[in-house]
Amino acid sequence: MSEHGEVFVPVKVLLVDDEVNITKSLRRLLSQEDDYEILVGNSGDEGLVQIRENEDIGVIISDQRMPQMTGVEFLGEARKLLPDAIRILLTGYADIEASIAAINQGAVYRYLTKPWQDDELLTAIAEAADHFRLVRENKRLNALVTRQNAELQDWNARLKQRVLDQTSQIREKSDSLAEKNKQLRSSFSETIEALSGLIEMRDRKVPGHSRNTAELVAAMAREMGLSAEDVRSYRSAALLHDIGKIGMTDELLSKDEGLLDEAELIEYQRHVIRGQAAIDPVLELRDLGLLIRHHHENFDGSGFPDGLAKEAIPLGARLIAVANCFEAKLHHFAEAEALDEALKEMAQEWGTRLDPTLEKVFHATAKALFSHLEFTAEVVERKVSPKELVVGMQLRHDLHSGTGVLLLKKGTIFDEFGIDAINRCFMIDPFEREITVLIDSQEK
Ligand SMILES: [Fe+2]
Repeated sequence: MSEHGEVFVPVKVLLVDDEVNITKSLRRLLSQEDDYEILVGNSGDEGLVQIRENEDIGVIISDQRMPQMTGVEFLGEARKLLPDAIRILLTGYADIEASIAAINQGAVYRYLTKPWQDDELLTAIAEAADHFRLVRENKRLNALVTRQNAELQDWNARLKQRVLDQTSQIREKSDSLAEKNKQLRSSFSETIEALSGLIEMRDRKVPGHSRNTAELVAAMAREMGLSAEDVRSYRSAALLHDIGKIGMTDELLSKDEGLLDEAELIEYQRHVIRGQAAIDPVLELRDLGLLIRHHHENFDGSGFPDGLAKEAIPLGARLIAVANCFEAKLHHFAEAEALDEALKEMAQEWGTRLDPTLEKVFHATAKALFSHLEFTAEVVERKVSPKELVVGMQLRHDLHSGTGVLLLKKGTIFDEFGIDAINRCFMIDPFEREITVLIDSQEK
């Protein structure tokens, strides 16, 4: 073992001389050391045979004067076969010039003269063997570094590929999740629209009320800069705010709120709690339940069911209260002056029934959304087929199905769900082909 802990491997030394006495004496000399494994050739050709059979020869010592092939010629051939082996020429004084030329050409590492000094020769061979070991170790380390580099590159490439594969898998999963979310949201919206349709079928007094209330709530929420999620929730809650009325008797439903006796009023007020209870089992709708419960709370605390006041009433419920109050008032007036009159009547509600901080946003939004009601030069009438309906158009007259069911009350503003519902109803229960709508003359 060496001092570095490597297994000690003797260096192979090839001795080539046509004089057997010389090779014998060299072998004897070198055998005193454990460092060498000795090989012998008695001519240049024999030396080449040994080289071909022992590719790990480290030191080659050759006599210069040999028949057929000189030492320099032999070492030149040996160099081609084993470029890393250290080549030494043994030469007499007469051949020194040839030896120097051979060294200069690179065929020989060094030369030694005959007769030799044993010590000098042993030192020269020991140096040559060390030199060879260094070259061999250097090559081994280079090969190791090259192999490790290749492994590292391969590992890097595989790592990169794995990261790319995983990224692509994550992206696929995320896309599919987004698609599923979209489908879920869409079927969620459709369910809410369907429920809202049920409410309006039950309470025919003001068709379109839930839808118009919802549009106004959504428009106010957007104007206030609320998040898309809040806008969606508030709109859904507004669509369902009177879902508790489904359980009311026809008699109670047909009466105006102001004309109810005490018992009827108590029964009427229960619709907010029944509404919350109706949707509570649906986890996704549970948050909307609170807005439904509190849509009749008054800002001054005089409302029902819990008598909440001011900011204790959830914002969504306060917005629904404003839109609900306004939409109901619209139906009390003739169409031409409905918007102005309803807005005027609203004046007395701020601070008592309604949240006064919402007055400004309400005015801006209601005017923009319901200006169609002001039948001015900017608004024109147009007859369209169900397929030609566009979001924002407003229904001019009540719309009945082919079998006579009132579908939408005049004044209803079409949104995409409403248009879709009308088109589906037209397929099932066809009505008059032309629907009269009001549109902004600029959009004609
Ligand atoms: Fe209500």
